[in-house]
Amino acid sequence: MTRVPPAGRFGPARATRPAATRPAATRPARVAALISGRGSNMLALADAAARPGCPFTIALVLSNRAEAAGLALAAARGLRTACVESRGRDREGFEAAVQAELERAGAEYVALAGFLRVLTPGFVARWEGRMLNIHPSLLPSFPGLNTHARALAAGVKLHGCTAHLVTAGVDEGPILAQAAVPVLPGDSEAGLAGRVLAQEHAVFPAALAALVSGIALPPAEGALANPLPVAAALPMDRVTRSG
Ligand code: GRF
Repeated sequence: MTRVPPAGRFGPARATRPAATRPAATRPARVAALISGRGSNMLALADAAARPGCPFTIALVLSNRAEAAGLALAAARGLRTACVESRGRDREGFEAAVQAELERAGAEYVALAGFLRVLTPGFVARWEGRMLNIHPSLLPSFPGLNTHARALAAGVKLHGCTAHLVTAGVDEGPILAQAAVPVLPGDSEAGLAGRVLAQEHAVFPAALAALVSGIALPPAEGALANPLPVAAALPMDRVTRSG
């Protein structure tokens, strides 16, 4: 029988709990990073965890694909790794095996760091309030896959990324942090993806740190980080008529 993992040392995670009522943290929260591929967001979390005072530690890196490059990168860093292959397995069996690995590692939070599997409502409910996802768009725009191509096709002028709590609806959970990047003239999908990815690497660790600490990111830090001033994004000298 699987058991529900213990609530974190910081009590049940509530992103909106006021800082004044937070119990003092005595050790970093144990986070499992779930990956499916190259693992750059997982490495951003690991980098953050290595900094003094970080409120979380990476207790496990778990991949659903043995060939995920991120798995080898995590092992090279000395992180605990596990692989639970999802191919050819039913969802319940796969998730029971993942849950067992999470419990073995003593995980208190789960970070979906490029994890390309939709989780069942039962698994999501088990980790309610303690599972964070990084998504490469400004949700609620462009949930799902191929976000950069869809943003370019839609002609949006701002694109970006979102760190949000995971709920049963795909890419629908409460938003903890977002960062925006401008879509530039002639942008390619790869170019836009690269600029968004750089923001993901900043937003995801910040949102995770806030989550495990039970604090809400102030809007100025957490809601929007547009790296270009408006004047640079909108060339007013070219659109304003003189005389
Ligand atoms: C990222 O863009 C993430 O937002 C999305 O999948 C991609 C994973 O990249 N969910 P990486 O494996 O973290 O490098």
